[in-house]
Amino acid sequence: MTQSVHSVNAESPIGVFDSGVGGLSVLRHIHAQLPHEHLIYFADSGHAPYGDREEEWVVQRSLAVAAFLFGQGVKALVVACNTATVAAIKAIRAQWPGMPIVGVEPGLKPGAAVTKSGKVGVLATDRTLHSAKFLALRDQIAGATGAEFLLQPCIGLVDQIELGQLGCEGTMALLEQYVVPLLDGGADTLVLGCTHYPFVEQSIRQVVARHASHDPDAPVTLIDTGDAVARQLARLLEGAGMLRPAGVAHLRGYTTASAAVLAEAFRALLALTPQVEAVDV
Ligand code: DGL
Repeated sequence: MTQSVHSVNAESPIGVFDSGVGGLSVLRHIHAQLPHEHLIYFADSGHAPYGDREEEWVVQRSLAVAAFLFGQGVKALVVACNTATVAAIKAIRAQWPGMPIVGVEPGLKPGAAVTKSGKVGVLATDRTLHSAKFLALRDQIAGATGAEFLLQPCIGLVDQIELGQLGCEGTMALLEQYVVPLLDGGADTLVLGCTHYPFVEQSIRQVVARHASHDPDAPVTLIDTGDAVARQLARLLEGAGMLRPAGVAHLRGYTTASAAVLAEAFRALLALTPQVEAVDV
């Protein structure tokens, strides 16, 4: 069933959502590339992580969050979550046809383009790595480029990042557990296939630097697609004549958990201080 939308124009905000704070790693690129756009960020932290759930559950949550954001009058929606994108973007597009809807996918193509060893590690949630959409993408890029993808589900990592634990002992132990086998397997490129993971990029670099066979002259490349997602959004809005060209932009946050926690994530991760409200969606 398709849903009707409020009338929107260039002044309308852009909605960005994730299961939690991970989508802030995408929002920072949108904010930088489109500084005049009003943004609404929705963190479904009360229901995070999505990555360990059944696909249908993720579809239903994503549709509920999308309905909330379209109800706020957004002119475009960014599904800033790999897990929600593989599970639900088709269903969201079917319900809001004609609206600009941008998703995120693990950067397999850029990973295959930069690897020298031919082996690319992919860090993502279990849900993402088991989805038909992701596996089709993997087969397509592997077939076209000859790259080999080593898939690593990172159970528990999103929970640590939601807690703001970006470099503590527990997080470092998880990263060792997930990253070292990829390096041992010959990967020289690591795709950050979950939008939460760019926030532990420094910790991943520490794990890489400590790895026994690490050659400082052959650095491991980390791939984050946040920048490309923001560019795609800008292209879509420009094509639709919907870019807000000038003026002071407003940023608002909504969360299904604690407003104070999301406000602190904005401050700690992006040095931003928007108004944040807790909602029951
Ligand atoms: N940021 C989400 C992603 O990109 C995290 C998923 C989760 O909540 O497990 O996949």
